[in-house]
Amino acid sequence: MALLDVENLTLGFYSEKNKKWSKVLNDVNFSLYENEFLGIVGESGSGKTILANSILNLIPKQGKIVSGSILFKDRDILKLTEDQIRKVRGKDIAIIFQDPMSSLHPLLTVKDQIVETLQAHRLIKKSDAVEIAMNLLRDVKIDRPELVLNKYPFMLSGGIRQRVMIAISISCGPEIVIADEPTTALDVTVQRDILALIKGFKKNLNFSLMLVSHDLGVIWENTDRVVVMYCGRIMESGKTEDVLRNPLHPYTFGLLSSIPRKTGKKLEILKGIRGSIPSLHDFPEHICPFLPRCDFATEKCNRPLLLEQVDRDRFVACFNKGAFK
Ligand SMILES: Nc1ncnc2c1ncn2[C@@H]1O[C@H](COP(=O)(O)OP(=O)(O)O)[C@@H](O)[C@H]1O
Ligand code: SF4
Ligand SMILES: [Mg+2]
Repeated sequence: MALLDVENLTLGFYSEKNKKWSKVLNDVNFSLYENEFLGIVGESGSGKTILANSILNLIPKQGKIVSGSILFKDRDILKLTEDQIRKVRGKDIAIIFQDPMSSLHPLLTVKDQIVETLQAHRLIKKSDAVEIAMNLLRDVKIDRPELVLNKYPFMLSGGIRQRVMIAISISCGPEIVIADEPTTALDVTVQRDILALIKGFKKNLNFSLMLVSHDLGVIWENTDRVVVMYCGRIMESGKTEDVLRNPLHPYTFGLLSSIPRKTGKKLEILKGIRGSIPSLHDFPEHICPFLPRCDFATEKCNRPLLLEQVDRDRFVACFNKGAFK
C-alpha cells in the first residue's frame, strides 16, 4: 500500500528579475510504499530538493503550489494548517539535509537538540529523554555517546554531525525519512559508513526512505525503486534494477554513460551527456525538456511530454523510448 502519493504536483517560482513564473516542478506523480527505499536521482538543478522539501510543505517564499496533492495516509499535506504540519514534521516524516550544520542548532548541545525533539512529540520526562538520546547515539554507531551528548555541533566532525542528524531523524519513530544528499558533503570513506548505517536501519526500523542523490551509484546500491528527474519532471521511474540495467529514457541512458568504469587498470569515462541543465527560468515547458541535449530527438519530440506507463511499475516520458538500443 502506498504511504505517500504525490499526484500531479506542479510548483511555480516567481522571478522578480524576469517578472515571470516558471514551473520548477511540473506534473510530478509518484508513490512511496511501506518499508521501501525510493531513490530520486537527477543532475544538480533537476528539482530534487524542491520536491523533497515540498513533501513537508517547506516551500520557499517565492514558490507557489499551482496544482496537485501530497497524500500521506489519505491526508493532503498541502492542506494542513501550520500547527498540523508541525506535528507531522519530525514525528511522521523526518528529513536529513546535505549539510547537518545548517539543520542542527549551533547554540544547543547534541543532548538538548535530541531531548527537545523527543519532548516536542512525546510526553516524556527529561531524564528518560536523555536516556533515549544516549541509546540513539549508540544506534547510529557513535562510540562514546556520553562525550558527544554534551558537545556543540561545531565541535564535531562532519561524519559525527550527520550521525547526530540521523539520530534526531529516527528519534520519534517516523514512518518516512527523506534524506537529501545525506553524504554529498562527506569524505568518501565516511560516505560509505553513513550509507551502510541508513541501509542497516531498513532491517530493524520500520520506515520508508526517500533517498535523494545526484549519484547513480549511491541510488543503485541503496534503493528498491527509482524516480529519474530532469527540469522538474519525471523522466523515468520503476524498480531500480530494471531502470538502471535496462534504461528506456535517453536521459537515464546519458546519466549511466557518465559513470566512470574500470576496464582493466584504466578508468574509462563513457560519453556522458552533452551540454548542461538549463536554469530554472529556461526550463522548456511545451516540448520535451531534454530535447536540446538529446542525441535521439526526432520531429515528434516538439510537443508536450507525457509520462506513460509501459509496464506494471514502469513509467517513461519519451516519444522515442529505448531509441539508443
Ligand atoms: N530558493 C530558490 N530560489 C530560486 N531558485 C531556486 C531556489 N531553490 C532552487 N531554485 C532553482 O530551482 C531549480 C531546482 O533546484 P533544486 O531543487 O535545488 O535542484 P536539485 O536538488 O536537483 O539540485 C534550480 O534551477 C534551482 O536553481
Ligand atoms: S522525447 Fe525525444 S528529445 Fe525527449 S528524450 Fe525522448 S527522444 Fe529525446
Ligand atoms: Mg539538491
